Amino acid sequence: MLESRPKSPERSYDHRYHIGNAGDVWKHAVWLALLGARPQQGLPLTVVETHAGRGLYQRGPTGEWMEGLGKLGDLSGAPESLAKLAQLQGCGAGRVGERLVGSPLVTISAMRTGDALLLHELDPEACASLRSAVRGADGVTVLEQDGWAAAPSPGKHIFFVDPPFASREEWQLTATRAIAWAASNPRSTVVVWYPIKGASRPAALVNALRASGVAGWFGELWTAPYDEGRNRLNGSGMAVLRPPAGLEAAVAELGGWLGPRLAVRDGDWQLKMAGWKAKERS
Ligand SMILES: C[S@@+](CC[C@H](N)C(=O)[O-])C[C@H]1O[C@@H](n2cnc3c(N)ncnc32)[C@H](O)[C@@H]1O
Repeated sequence: MLESRPKSPERSYDHRYHIGNAGDVWKHAVWLALLGARPQQGLPLTVVETHAGRGLYQRGPTGEWMEGLGKLGDLSGAPESLAKLAQLQGCGAGRVGERLVGSPLVTISAMRTGDALLLHELDPEACASLRSAVRGADGVTVLEQDGWAAAPSPGKHIFFVDPPFASREEWQLTATRAIAWAASNPRSTVVVWYPIKGASRPAALVNALRASGVAGWFGELWTAPYDEGRNRLNGSGMAVLRPPAGLEAAVAELGGWLGPRLAVRDGDWQLKMAGWKAKERS
């Protein structure tokens, strides 16, 4: 049972401790809203997940999921993407499923005929678990490879970038690689999830994406006020280069629904969204 995080600083990142938390709810619900914003008649899509995780997680009796999925409660009137996520996570009538899905299975739930999914996961044990979680799904390839080295190819692509953010360098690499992936293919969309503990690293990431010249958008859901402390997850953001049309309205609805429910202090939450136009050279 995974109830608390090991104390050892050498312990590498393990998403089992975070599955279903407030950041995961925001990440997976916005991701579903984004995938749902595709035109019905659009071209087949290749989704490249650079940091896929285990795919499927057994939740403990307590854990971070209690601050996320565990707070959703009555889902009547929930926005479409959240209702879909709740169904995938076995949530409803105040209960949360025992086995929780990670982003690869969330993505698979939104794939259409002809779409492909490339999943990168560097940790051998997590990768073995991922292979078994996605076994039998059409169009899915699992690669035990470095997601930062994922190469774009022609065609319509979405990169989904969800690293552990274990160091300052990883924040910088996220910005550099996201901009490079967007620049390499004019039909690439790049989606980055980021945690908000302090304010400076998220702001630097968004500023770098904004300075790239590629059209973009970010949406942050703060579920704890900043004075709750720097070492807790005060919120999280999704930043997108070349966002699909219609995403902002869906995410605004989602944030308005989730904010009051996920707030750590009653009524104390914030949704921050901003977009910027392309300054791309032709
Ligand atoms: C935040 S978790 C992914 C969670 C997953 N996207 C989800 O939402 O369910 C980050 C994952 O990236 C893996 N990882 C770390 N560095 C990596 C790298 N360079 N390439 C691929 N995977 C990596 C970790 O082992 C971990 O499983």
